[in-house]
Parts: sequence; C-alpha cells; structure tokens
Amino acid sequence: MKTKVLFIASECVPFIKTGGLADVVGSLPGYFDKERYEVRVIVPNYICIAPEWKEKMEFVTNFYMDMAWRSQYVGVLEMEHEGIRYYFIDNEYYFAGDRPYGYIHEDVEKFAFFSKAALSILPVIGFRPDIVHCHDWQTGLVPVYLKDSFHKGEFYADMKSIMTIHNLKFQGIWNIPAVQDATGLDMSYFTSDKLEAFGDANYLKGGIVYADYVTTVSRTYAEEIKTPHYGEHLDGLMRARSNCLCGIVNGLDHREWDPATDPMIPKNYTEDTFRTDKVKNKLALQKELGLEVDKKKMLIGIVSRLTDQKGFDLIDCIMDELCQDEVQIVVLGTGEDRYENMFRHFAWKYGGKVAACIYYSNELSHKIYAAGDAFLMPSRFEPCGLSQLMSLRYGTLPIVRETGGLKDTVEPYNEFEETGTGFSFTNYNAHEMLSAIRYAESVYYDKKRSWNKMAERAMKADFSWKSSAKQYEALYDRLSPEKG
Ligand code: ADP
Ligand code: GLC
Repeated sequence: MKTKVLFIASECVPFIKTGGLADVVGSLPGYFDKERYEVRVIVPNYICIAPEWKEKMEFVTNFYMDMAWRSQYVGVLEMEHEGIRYYFIDNEYYFAGDRPYGYIHEDVEKFAFFSKAALSILPVIGFRPDIVHCHDWQTGLVPVYLKDSFHKGEFYADMKSIMTIHNLKFQGIWNIPAVQDATGLDMSYFTSDKLEAFGDANYLKGGIVYADYVTTVSRTYAEEIKTPHYGEHLDGLMRARSNCLCGIVNGLDHREWDPATDPMIPKNYTEDTFRTDKVKNKLALQKELGLEVDKKKMLIGIVSRLTDQKGFDLIDCIMDELCQDEVQIVVLGTGEDRYENMFRHFAWKYGGKVAACIYYSNELSHKIYAAGDAFLMPSRFEPCGLSQLMSLRYGTLPIVRETGGLKDTVEPYNEFEETGTGFSFTNYNAHEMLSAIRYAESVYYDKKRSWNKMAERAMKADFSWKSSAKQYEALYDRLSPEKG
C-alpha cells in the first residue's frame, strides 16, 4: 500500500507565488517515488490566481463549515497538473484581493479558515492521508486542529503531521481574543506550552508544538534557530523539540531551471557551450535594460524580495564604492520602500552601470540568472535560499554570506586547490562583503580560466530534489511505519 501524503500550503508554483515557498511546494511532490507515495496538494483558490489556471479547475463540491460562531462556505475545486492532484479551497470572502497576504489581522482569520477547511474536505474528496505535511505559519493550525476536534473522528485518528519551517521570522502573531474568536479553539490552547507566546497567539508555535515532526530547509538553519540570534524568540522551543527537528535542504526543479532548454532566455547553453554562448545572454540583457553593452564587464545580478532579511543595508553602505569598480549591477525585486527607492536612486546616479527593475517578472529573473557573471546574496539569515541554486545551475557564481542554506550550498572558492563554486564572507559587515566582491572581481578579470572552471563546477553541482526527496520519504516511513 502506498503512503499517502497531503501537502497543505499557502502558495504553490505555477498557480501562485510570492517567494521560494511556492517553488518548493510546486516541485517537491513530483520527485517522490510514485510506486510508494501518493502526494496531493491543497492550496487556497485566491481570486488573483491567473485565469489560465482558473479555467482548468474543476468544481468538486461545496458545503458549509462551522468556524467558531460562524458558518462558512467551503468550495472545493481540483486539477491534475503534471501528474499531481491539486485541490483549491474556495471562499471569495477570504481569498479576495490582488495578492495572497496583506494585513495580518485578516490573514490570521483567513488561514484559520483555510487550515480547518483543508482537513474538513478530506472525507468529501475521499483522500485519507497518513501524513499531513504543513508549510509555514499559514498552516500552523493544521496540527493543532488535527489533535483537537479532528482526532476524535475515526477518519483522522492516526494521521501524523509534519511542520516544515521555511522562514521562522514569519509566525502569524495576533492578539489572543481575536484569534480565539477566529479559530474557535478553546481558551485552554492559549497557554505558554501551546499557542501563546509573549502574550499573543502564535500560529507557527502551535504548529511546532503539535506536529509529530518539525523540519526546516537546511541543516545549518536547523542548528541556527536553536540559538537566540536566529531563533526569533522561539529558540527555546526549537531546543526543546530538537529530537524531532531536522534540516533537509531544498532542491531545484531542473525541468524549469535548465539553461540548456530554458525557453525564456535568448541563448541556451550547457556545461560544454557556456564559455562561448552564455555571454550572448549578457549582451541581450545589457541592451534590454539600457546598460553599457560590453561583453567584458562583470555583471552582478540580484533577484530578491527587497527586505531586511536579504542584507540590502550592507549593499547600501558600499554601493558608491562598488560603483567605482569595473562592474555592472542588475536588480530585480520588490519589497520595502526603503530598498526599492535605494536601488532606484543608484540606477539614476550610475546610469548605464546599475539597472533597477522594481517589479516582479519570472521571465526577467530567468534572463538575469543566465546573463550574470556573479549573483549577490548577502543575507542576514537564509533558511535555504533558492536564488543561489538557480544561479549555480546557470553558471552564475554566487557571492553569499555564510548563513543557513547559503552556507550549505555554496562552496567558497579555494585558489590553492582550485575548488569551490562561489564566494562567501562570514560576518554581517559591509566591507567584509565588499572584500568578497572584489576578490570575485580579481578572479573574474585576472584568472578567467579559474573562473570558468568554477562556473563549470557550479553548473554540474547536483541540487536536484533527488536526495532531499529521499530524506523526506525516510521521514514519512518513520512516522508511518506500517506503510514504509
Ligand atoms: P525567499 O523565499 O526568501 O524570497 P528564495 O531564494 O528561497 O527566497 O526564493 C526566491 C524566489 O523568488 C526565487 O525563485 C526568485 O527567483 C524569486 N523572485 C524573487 N523576487 C522576484 C522578482 N521580483 N521577480 C521574479 N522572481 C522573483
Ligand atoms: C523562505 C526562505 C528561503 C527558502 C524558502 C523555501 O522563503 O526565506 O530561504 O529558500 O522559504 O524554503
């Protein structure tokens, strides 16, 4: 008998994406052994999902669900996409708006509804998972509900849950009376050993306390979050649960991220042809973005949410110095006004040298990964990070801070042994970062052969889901021994 696994998440490629969570939820299910595991996925049916996907959804059923004192409409739609069955929970009141998240006071009610609805639809769709695999705070209440009212029913009795933390920074925190009202959970849940933290209700904490197992997305981050510096005030809880906590590094969907076949880049290339062909992508991008067209100039790419997490204050400190060098910088991102305006300012000040694309574009992100020589990601913390994996795959060498998944996936260049796949620095310090960038510049301009060999190693490095999917499978087997 196959082990049945249900992913519950707030975003999923190709339907809806705000960050790496969507990439993971949208690609990992396709990498499990289909003979042994059946994986299905539940996501909200946001109104802002593109019409091309909406058209493919099929209506399954609808019913009303008790939610505290309310009775709420639950619609269920489904779609089979690339061999995986997806369910979309429909409710136009909760899932309206032009983006999935917005205001926390609305989001806590929205995701309480989603979490309960995701469990409620299971008997209706006739899928009884052995493991419910939850992702981030938006689904933190699923393990709580499961152990609360749902476990009493035979259908749910032995279901196990896993909570995967993609980012401990976001916990879904709101005041207890409002959360109690939204969730309908008994007041006894809002104590410091359960959902309460520092006087408020905390969804992610609920998930971590009640899940049978907790994972996060790299080994280093799994260690870091047990310390006060990275623990986001939950380090004590992470230490308490450390015998049920592990880090499994994210993989990349090689079907979408492959420079040899990528339809979004001007010139495809492989490990054998990148020395001559990759540069054609750089020339095209320079032209497209109004940069000085020069195939010799070192082009540094950034594709990111523009938030504090990603280390942009370091860039702010040294940008004027960096722009004295022979480099070009391309930024694609949206986020905090402070950083959006900072990059707009530098693009104005260093026209032809800096391009700031302050919007979201999947296509342009592909072009930047392909066109860049280097990719800058100096994160303050980074649970895993997918952008550096995409850069590696495209032979664009990452310059990263040694934290979380960046530390686990980018091997720093060693000029004596000719090993490594990128450049790194340790301390959260702007001039340490600048030194790493300048070291990269010196290798790029003075040791081109070493640079190219490094790019070749980067492209060949294996960051597919294969080995990580195996680790998740082993975890499923452990939690569901009669199946595994
Ligand atoms: P996080 O999830 O913390 O934002 P990751 O590195 O795990 O960081 O994933 C970020 C993902 O979002 C990558 O796929 C990256 O290419 C994509 N991305 C970020 N900003 C943009 C943007 N403005 N346009 C297109 N893709 C973006
Ligand atoms: C989060 C993290 C990022 C990780 C992604 C997917 O958004 O910030 O580091 O790669 O989730 O797990």
